[in-house]
Amino acid sequence: MKCVIPAAGLGTRFLPITKAQPKEMLPVYDRPTIQYVIEEAVASGIDDIIIVNGKGKRSIEDHFDRSFELEESLKEKGKFDILKTVNEISNLADIFYIRQKKQKGLGDAINHAKRHIGDEPFAVMLGDIITKSDRPCTKQLIDLSEKYNSSIVAVEKVPNEKVEKYGIIGGSEVSNGVYNVDTLVEKPKLTESPSNLAIIGRYVLYPEIFDHIENTEVSVGNEIQLTDAMAKLDLLYANVFNGRSYDIGNKIDWLKTSIEFALEDDEFNDVLLDYMHEIVK
Ligand code: UTP
Repeated sequence: MKCVIPAAGLGTRFLPITKAQPKEMLPVYDRPTIQYVIEEAVASGIDDIIIVNGKGKRSIEDHFDRSFELEESLKEKGKFDILKTVNEISNLADIFYIRQKKQKGLGDAINHAKRHIGDEPFAVMLGDIITKSDRPCTKQLIDLSEKYNSSIVAVEKVPNEKVEKYGIIGGSEVSNGVYNVDTLVEKPKLTESPSNLAIIGRYVLYPEIFDHIENTEVSVGNEIQLTDAMAKLDLLYANVFNGRSYDIGNKIDWLKTSIEFALEDDEFNDVLLDYMHEIVK
């Protein structure tokens, strides 16, 4: 299966950091956000990846490219451990790049990948969302998409006060945690929301989505919303994600995620905890 990673957004919630630096390249502990996304794709069996990028996003391409100068220098200095890490990054997968010239929304970004995808189901993984689980989130979706012969999205239960920030699904539960979706609303008011199940940024979509995107008008935020196009699909399922997702697109969640991931590293756990106790005191 191929996958599309939209990463062309302006990242306005993260300004001024994102003025000349892509949000998807913000480090979360020891690597850029988009590297976690690509590692999830690879762990899900995907080896053909299309990144939709835009102006000022060249560092994404450079990160996944070879860097002969750097490799030579590391070899000369005998830094073979870090050389191995650097080489692994550029060998992760076949990555193709498509440029979205104007940021017209997530739906429009996905539509840019139409010719590369062809006529098969494909995965979509947002470039600013990290997921953590025993079985990768996208792998869970690929398996369920095959079982139900349908497009499918990953969802997570969110508290009432967060409902207005997400695309929300409504429908009937057909088996444990799997819903047949009959309603989709982008950023609804709590009183109008069909549930608390929020779309978290991982999808497997059937190719008819491209026709629906082309027939979708701009809506919330003056953008072509993927949610509006998905609402036109004949069949759509949702899977309550068995794991945890992290939204890196806003400052506080990015900071929390970095701390949580750093605490998981035995090398720094004690030092970081001591430091945190000290500043809290
Ligand atoms: P977001 O809405 O979170 O990204 O889109 P944004 O528009 O960059 O963020 P803010 O709201 O201005 O802070 C989710 C993903 O879709 C991509 C983004 O790069 C992000 O990874 N995206 C969004 C595009 O590729 N193109 C677009 O036109 C919009």
